[in-house]
Amino acid sequence: MKIITTPADFIAWRNENQQSLGFVPTMGALHLGHEELLKNARANNELVALSIFVNPTQFNDKKDLQNYPKTWEQDLEIAKKNGVDVIFYPDFESIYPDNYSYIISENDKSKVLCGASRPGHFDGVLTIVLKLLNILKPNRAYFGEKDFQQLSLIRGMVAAFFIPVEIIPVAIVREFDGLALSSRNVHLSDEGRKIAPKIYEIIKSAKNIDEAKKQLEDLGFKIDYLEEIWGRRLVAIFTNLTKTGNELRLIDNVEI
Ligand code: PAJ
Repeated sequence: MKIITTPADFIAWRNENQQSLGFVPTMGALHLGHEELLKNARANNELVALSIFVNPTQFNDKKDLQNYPKTWEQDLEIAKKNGVDVIFYPDFESIYPDNYSYIISENDKSKVLCGASRPGHFDGVLTIVLKLLNILKPNRAYFGEKDFQQLSLIRGMVAAFFIPVEIIPVAIVREFDGLALSSRNVHLSDEGRKIAPKIYEIIKSAKNIDEAKKQLEDLGFKIDYLEEIWGRRLVAIFTNLTKTGNELRLIDNVEI
């Protein structure tokens, strides 16, 4: 398994390795959700690339960026186990030579839901994903439905800019009790971990949005948004049931 840290080195590697490439972009702290993306990529491409980069431009909250879990050794093991051929692991300077003065900005879908509560978040996501697609030149790139709004914005960008890549959606991977896997779940306290699966249970079974909101609030969750659009019921909640007592934001969605 090769580890490449600069765009120039990756472009050189890709010139010498022109087989079909499946690409899984991540911010590390890999779990079974990421593994599912890797398995899909492994099954349908000759080569598999994984990127690990905690992209600062998509964090509107400095604390959230500082607290983002880092598990490099474990990530390497997971990558090896899933047959990754190459890891792209850039640093900020190499991938933002412009220091983020050039920005991809979407003006419609990115302004609602997660975009409304995290200003600038999707600009950061779209900008890094465009850079990564330009550097890695994959045939297919894999994104989880966990971040449904992100997935649809990336599809929109690929269509808008005629980027020659196929975007493959992957269904949400959940814990045994229904909690959507997320790198941030490690911050939940024991009590928080116990009630967090209710988020899925409620958005899956509530008759309507008002009922779901009430049930979530009765459990002590603060609702960031709960809406039905794009054929989905999407939710973001805040909880204080964390190891540090700091507020944690979790998202989930189900097909309607
Ligand atoms: P990250 O949160 O590391 O997620 C990487 C990919 O894994 C995303 O496509 C995400 O939707 C997917 N994923 C996470 N949890 C999942 C789950 N439980 N089931 C299925 N897929 C899941 O999303 C990002 O990183 C970043 O925004 C990135 C696209 C890498 C740009 O920086």
